[in-house]
Amino acid sequence: KKIIIAVDGYSSTGKSTVAKQLAKVLGYVYVDTGAMYRAVTLFAMQHDLISKDEFDKEKLIENLSAIQLQFQFNAERGFAEMYLNGENVEDKIRTLEVSNYVSQVAAVPEVRKKQVEQQHKLGDEKGIVMDGRDIGTVVFPQAELKLFMTASAQTRAQRRFDELQQKGENVSFEEVLENVKSRDHIDSTRKDSPLVQATDAVVIDNSNMSKEEQFEKILSLAKT
Ligand code: C5P
Repeated sequence: KKIIIAVDGYSSTGKSTVAKQLAKVLGYVYVDTGAMYRAVTLFAMQHDLISKDEFDKEKLIENLSAIQLQFQFNAERGFAEMYLNGENVEDKIRTLEVSNYVSQVAAVPEVRKKQVEQQHKLGDEKGIVMDGRDIGTVVFPQAELKLFMTASAQTRAQRRFDELQQKGENVSFEEVLENVKSRDHIDSTRKDSPLVQATDAVVIDNSNMSKEEQFEKILSLAKT
């Protein structure tokens, strides 16, 4: 039987890696909901609606209908890439600049409402692994398996730092650590759909777990 698997948790806990792997092994569809909030943020940046000093929420809300998001499978990369109004933005949405603004954008209820509607539609086909912050609590409270991933902020920042360095982004470890902590804070304290553990979620703390160990554990959960 094909099921819905919700993967939630803090920033840079390896949610997407696990979710992608799981989808591949099970033959399920993988949906990265963070990519959707990141793409909306990129739109806001491109239209000068958000910067270090200000965020024009009202204007963004007015323009929500001009934002078309789409996932398109890339066979070479083995996952669906994010398209914003027809443009492939998969790489553009992964910068530290987008990460620095995304939690403010994701805290806007109107923004969330629109994304959640689209996420529900993607879940019409069963056999889905969706990762995010509110999947097991808000988007699919009926999900058959819910994972909640966590690790120490230091561990997470180090992983994200290594990733950004590999991509050639010129960032400091402190900046990345600050971003990880600040996103977690905004995500956990926002009024609309805050990041909280679903009561029926299985908690995976991978601070001291190898990727292989972790995946084995999760795969066995998915198969029971
Ligand atoms: O998963 P990722 O780190 O790419 O998500 C980026 C940001 O998008 C999160 O820090 C959070 O602010 C927001 N987000 C959310 N709800 C989701 C997925 C992501 O609020 N379901």
